[in-house]
Amino acid sequence: MGLRKLSSGVFMLSALDYDRRLFDSLIPLPDGTTYNSYLITGSEKTALIDTVDPKFSAFLLGSLPEKLDYIVSNHAEQDHSGAIPLLLEKFPDAKIICTELAKPMLISLLHIDEGRFVTVKDNEQLSLGDKTLTFISLPWSHWPETMATYLNEDKILFSCDLFGSHLATTRIYADGAVYEPAKRYYAEIMMPFAKFIKAHLSKLRNFDIKLIAPSHGQIYNNPDFIFNAYDDWLGNPKNSVVVLYVSMHGSVKKMVDALVDSLASNGINVRQFNLAKSDIGKIAIALVDALTIVVATPTVRNMPHPNVIYALSIANIIVPKAKYLAVLNSYGWSNTTTIAAIKNSVPNLNIDLLGIVGCKGQPTEKELGAVKDLAEEINKKHTAVFSDKAN
Ligand code: FEO
Repeated sequence: MGLRKLSSGVFMLSALDYDRRLFDSLIPLPDGTTYNSYLITGSEKTALIDTVDPKFSAFLLGSLPEKLDYIVSNHAEQDHSGAIPLLLEKFPDAKIICTELAKPMLISLLHIDEGRFVTVKDNEQLSLGDKTLTFISLPWSHWPETMATYLNEDKILFSCDLFGSHLATTRIYADGAVYEPAKRYYAEIMMPFAKFIKAHLSKLRNFDIKLIAPSHGQIYNNPDFIFNAYDDWLGNPKNSVVVLYVSMHGSVKKMVDALVDSLASNGINVRQFNLAKSDIGKIAIALVDALTIVVATPTVRNMPHPNVIYALSIANIIVPKAKYLAVLNSYGWSNTTTIAAIKNSVPNLNIDLLGIVGCKGQPTEKELGAVKDLAEEINKKHTAVFSDKAN
């Protein structure tokens, strides 16, 4: 989309990537994504806040005015910085504004000449004449060098990845439909850095914000909507269990069914995902809330099924706040290393193993009884957490 006015002298430039289906060659994008850049024309100087993915460089270059003084790089990742080298060619006097940490990253990622940089510190300001930019350091949202930019006169926060959503749409302002894409984005990009994000929310609440303009997805003209959603996602786990399973011949599924029935009958919200056919983004969303993760897998050559290893490696990256883990396992002749492999797959999680139920081949009635006992153990833990909250 070409220049779209947000307020006097402030414009949004959205590169809509409807067809992108994977981010980082890993994260599914069911709704595509956007790369948002923002143009601010002050009475004396003009600044561009972030750029776009390099494949949209021509769109960006074709949408800019004759003169550009500053390119503010809130974050060095290439989906926002990738067009900077071409902009520097087109605007030979323009300077890049970024944090001290971002400068060497931009140099190594994009081979930019050192002389093109001006580095800024937390709370430092830059005047564009009748408009003033304030730079707010927000490390780990989502790399260590990241900052946001606040436009004082218009009360707009340009938050880059923070509060983003992978969503390609022509609608500028978010409504309730953004909730799931924003939660998916939070789960995949921000949840690993939850303790930093919590502190950033407190810091940002000191600013009078009328619009939040992230570099992916839509703009929030009701900032409380996304602040409140983040508060919820960053808060305590809910009375929820996520079951991640693979079943090759139905034995694991029998155990899963027994466990899920038992948990659900106790009022626990259970989300089960067949890893042979699930969207990893949906799993990430469910993991935002789960108190317990159940892993159910056949043993395949002494190891968990490869899809289980993959899902656990994603969980280990995104670091959900679940406190309990349980394992169901069916094996043909041995499962000695399967359980150890599951435990070793999630070293980043602060999680207690509540129990394991294994069976050789199909589960017997006795083993299904053990599954119900495990469900009862999970139920006790959840009851303890949630009755504490009620008191
Ligand atoms: Fe949208 Fe961390 O880049």
